This record gives sequence, structure tokens and C-alpha cells, in this order.
Amino acid sequence: MTTATQITINPISRLEGHGKVTIHLSPNGEVDEAFFHITQFRGYEHFCQGRPLEEMPIITQRICGICPVSHQLASAKACDAICGAPIPETAAMLRELLHMGQYIQSHALHFFHLASPDLLLGWDSDPAQRNVVGVIAAAPDLAKRGIRLRKFGQEIISALAGKKIHPAFAVPGGVTHALPQAARLQMLAGFQEAFATAGAALGIIKDWAEQHMAEVNVFANFASHYASLVDDRGRLQLYDGQLRIKGHDGAILAQFDPADYLQFIGEHVEPWSYMKFPFFKPQGYPNGVYRVGPLARLNAVDSMGTPQADDELRQFRKIATDDRKGASLLYHYARMIELCYALERAQALLMDERIVGKQVRATAAPTNSQGVGIIEAPRGTLIHHYEVDRHGTIRDANLIVATGHNNLGMNRAVTLVAKEYIHRGDVREGMLNRVEGAIRCYDPCLSCATHALGQMQMTIQVLDHRREIIATLERR
Ligand code: MG
Ligand code: NI
Repeated sequence: MTTATQITINPISRLEGHGKVTIHLSPNGEVDEAFFHITQFRGYEHFCQGRPLEEMPIITQRICGICPVSHQLASAKACDAICGAPIPETAAMLRELLHMGQYIQSHALHFFHLASPDLLLGWDSDPAQRNVVGVIAAAPDLAKRGIRLRKFGQEIISALAGKKIHPAFAVPGGVTHALPQAARLQMLAGFQEAFATAGAALGIIKDWAEQHMAEVNVFANFASHYASLVDDRGRLQLYDGQLRIKGHDGAILAQFDPADYLQFIGEHVEPWSYMKFPFFKPQGYPNGVYRVGPLARLNAVDSMGTPQADDELRQFRKIATDDRKGASLLYHYARMIELCYALERAQALLMDERIVGKQVRATAAPTNSQGVGIIEAPRGTLIHHYEVDRHGTIRDANLIVATGHNNLGMNRAVTLVAKEYIHRGDVREGMLNRVEGAIRCYDPCLSCATHALGQMQMTIQVLDHRREIIATLERR
């Protein structure tokens, strides 16, 4: 029975940015189709034109207030490629450490603040309580530990780059300054507690997955290709390496240097969305859909390359079998294995004497007319591609963000979840929360995707067969 219900809930947004889902029902109240739209402002690439190359890591990190470190690193790498000189070893280690600090804070924030309300309290729990405040009430010790873990990641970033929101630490040719020994020792003191908290989070998500296997199986579970950076032995790389695209069946479809990405990645335009839809070029659109981010990376790599994360990956693969490795809810599980990896990598980098090396920047004038920088941001593959004139002034810039790569995947996810849970026009809040939860698995940064600053809202609208709105769920 279709009833004209207006559901409005607005405590706390658990997505970053502004997005809208529309769900179209048939005359009998079943789901016809569903769309995930992002209101995109496309001006940023244009805005970069005419800027000097060395300003790009500073300018582009302002694309997003949530992932400035990711843009700064991808940009610095694109600049390095244009200058054509290798950066000092210590500089590469410090950039990777900065990146791990960002992973720790971003993955901890997502798990403890954004995902845990659904996981710990349930999809159908009271929406006024289904947020981080509710989690603090239900599990105060765990919530506090999560907040401290996020702070640990933020402290790694500020120890390297200073306390500003948009620090310029990674620059063309390396980083701005060396790491003092005292700061190194202070960071090393925090790992014991950080590993314990990450272990607790992993324990929670493993138990949850075991208890909710039936839901994992039907909740936005679909086959696609998967992308990740890897090293020459197929191990996970977050800061450097080649980009690998693997099929759902495990076949490696392509593995290439960042400079060659245009041969393999195309961007499709749909009339109903401002956002572009990247795809694996040799297979065309939409057959070449691939996903990025934690689950995609764990599916694409051969191994993690750190002992604890490799042990976790072996356990994970017993769950993420062929019929389940496309399951969107497993993104939460994969994210916690990456959290463990980021801690192990950060600790290993800090234990290495070379991290306090004093030579941290190479100087070189632009020698190439183009440069591509690719990193694995917490949310997935991030590409910066610049073209410069002979003075090193930007002529053209192309940016592809993680939320773009996952655009088609997220559209599939909301459609599948809407069809699974909404029947006969019954659109209770808990069902719409599941639809939003499908997007939340991917932790999209709508702020990056829209190139707009600030937190904006998420809207879900359900339309009947006459295209009249029968329910709206809004979070601000
Ligand atoms: Mg672009
Ligand atoms: Ni962002």
C-alpha cells in the first residue's frame, strides 16, 4: 500500500558532502530503478590553468577539506613526474608516513563515527540515537578509544606538516623539512595503544560479519572489476607503484604505469548525472565498471606486505569467497584490515633510521610537458594529471577522484539495496537508512567529487509511478 509519508530526520550526517538518491516505484509499489546523484561543480580543473606548477600541491589540496593530504600527495607526484628527477629516499618515506597518518585518522573516523551506529545499534534502531552519540552511550569505552585512535593519526600529520588545516608539506621534489628525532620518538610511543584499538575494531567487524552473513550475501553484493596500486610483487601499495585492474574471477586485466592511465581508463558521461563515470577502456562502458577503495584493493592485490595485515587477509579471504567478494558490506571489514596495515607501515617507517635523514628535497626545473601522479587515497585511487608549458605553467589538469571511480558501483549498490528491501510501497525509515548505508560502505567523499567545500546534506526521495514524491529522508 502506498501512503504519502514524509519522513524527515536530521541529527547528524554520516556522509561527507552532498548527495541525493532517488528511488522510483512502479504502480504496485515495487522498485523500478534507483539513482545516486552528486551535484558536481566542474570548475576546479579549469581553475588550475595558468597557475605555476609548484603551487599545485597547495591549490589542489583545497579541493577538499576532508582529504587535503591525498590531493597534496597526488599533486606532488604529478609535479615530480614533470620535473623528471627522483626525489630523495627520506622524502619518499616521509610522504608515505604522512599518508599513513591520514589513513589512520580517516579509517578510524569512518568506522567509529560513521559505520558503527548501523553495525552496533542496528539499521532499524531509533534514528535520533543511531549516531556517534548513541554509540558513546552504548559502548563508551570503545567510542573513546576510537576517538583517541583518530587523534593518533591526526598527530602524525601535524608532527610532519604542522597544525594547519591545509599544510604544504609535500612539494615538487620532496618535502619541506626533515623529521626531528624527538618527534619521531614521540610518535613511536603511541603504537601500542593504537594497535590494541585497531585490533578491537577488527574483532567487532569480524564478529558482525559472521553473525550477519545472510545480510552480507544479499546487501549490494555484485561482481565488478577491482583496482589498486601494487608493487612489482603484487603487494598492496598506497603511495606508489603500478595500477592493477583485476577481474572478479581473479584474472589480471591490466597493470600499468600511472603515465599510461589514459590507455586504460575512460570517462563516460550520463545525461542524468553531472559526475563522470570512469570505466576500464578495453571493455567499454558499462561492462568495464571497476570499483576502488578498501574492498577493491584487497581483492586486487596478491598480498598486503606486512605480517599482521597478511594474516588478516588470509582470514578475510575465507569469508570473501568468489560469491561474496563483491559484497558492499565487506568494505567495512576490509577497511579495518587496512587500518592495521597503515599502523604497521607507519611503525616500520619510523623504526627505520633513514626516516630522520636530512636530505629531503631535490630541485629540478620542469623537463617534461606532462606528469601523472596516482595514489591510493583512503577512499580509493586518486589521479592527478597535469600538462605544462615550457615555463612550467599549467595548461591543462585532469583529476579523477575515488568517488568518481566508484560512481557506477554506488549506483548499482543503491539499486540493489532498494530492490531488496523496499516492497509494496512500504518505505519505512530503516529501509531508507539501508539505502544510505549502501553508499556509506564506500565512504564517498562528496566534497571531493563536487569540488565544493563544507559539509552538505544527503537526501533520499521515493517517487511513485506518477513521479510524485511519497517519502523523503534528509540528513543535514
Ligand atoms: Mg576530471
Ligand atoms: Ni575529499
